[in-house]
Amino acid sequence: MSEVFAEPFDAVLELGGEPLRAAMASVETRLRQIAAVETNALATIEAGGKRLRPLLVFVAGLGSEAHVALCRAAAAVELIHSATLVHDDVLDDAPLRRGRVTIFAQAGRRAATSTGDLLFSSAFAELALNEDLAQLTALSAASSALARGELMQRADAWRADVTLERYLERCEMKTARLFAAACELGALAGGGPSLGPFGHAVGLAFQILDDVLDITGPAERTGKRRGADLLDGTVTLPLILARERSPELAALDLRTISGPDEADRICELIEATGAAEQAREHALELVAATKRALPVSSGTDQRRALELLADGLVQRFA
Ligand code: IPE
Ligand code: IPE
Ligand code: MG
Ligand code: MG
Repeated sequence: MSEVFAEPFDAVLELGGEPLRAAMASVETRLRQIAAVETNALATIEAGGKRLRPLLVFVAGLGSEAHVALCRAAAAVELIHSATLVHDDVLDDAPLRRGRVTIFAQAGRRAATSTGDLLFSSAFAELALNEDLAQLTALSAASSALARGELMQRADAWRADVTLERYLERCEMKTARLFAAACELGALAGGGPSLGPFGHAVGLAFQILDDVLDITGPAERTGKRRGADLLDGTVTLPLILARERSPELAALDLRTISGPDEADRICELIEATGAAEQAREHALELVAATKRALPVSSGTDQRRALELLADGLVQRFA
């Protein structure tokens, strides 16, 4: 199992104490119950993952007694996320996920598409139990944005002229909106301040850092193959920045990358320009500014938990 309750978030769990640990355990049980109806769905959930989005739901609802409603919201967000990853691996032709062979690589496109559909629809069935239209609206808007972000990524695939603005818009849609929804759901189900903008900003930074890790990270660390974005034609911030610095990269046609070894070489080239580091710093600055602007009183457990969560998110990329 890769990265379940991973170390970077231990400090958050410690601060939240027994109630937060119990909440994370309850969502795990619920996810397994829901996914148990189908082998590939269960395998997806059992493969783990950081459970970052459920953690966001619980931290946004920290101190609330609405345990069942928060657990449903957390499970729903993680189910949307898991569905998206199963579909994303079809779109990206990805061989590895969470350290395991993807459903796509193992069972094929049709099985992966249907498994993703099952996980996706289970999310709304679960959230509907909370009987709150505002929660359903928040999650459905985020999942529509996510799908549009993925479509935008396919539309822009292999293009040398993807701009920074367009790249950021894609990251907002495919990742930041679901992070924001996790925070909104925590506030709606548990009561408390709206933390959507916090979720949005850390989600955007998270996607940028994930894109950096695609260039710099070995598979043993990420559970995914290095250079996967280059191989499926996805232009990300490190490459956009590196193209301004290297004539070889500026002239590169991604379609000519012959395979993983060649992708590795391009990753080295991108790293050598300093562009991956620049993208990483941009994301870190975004997280730091977001922490400073938190709309939660300083000195409270919730503020500290949000700060620790933001730190943990960044620590994975240190
Ligand atoms: C991966 O998300 C997809 C992105 C938004 C970059 P995570 O890195 O949170 O995936 P898991 O759930 O831990 O596997
Ligand atoms: C994030 O994009 C996936 C979604 C938000 C659907 P990536 O394609 O970068 O995610 P990974 O790297 O495959 O996890
Ligand atoms: Mg992908
Ligand atoms: Mg990625």
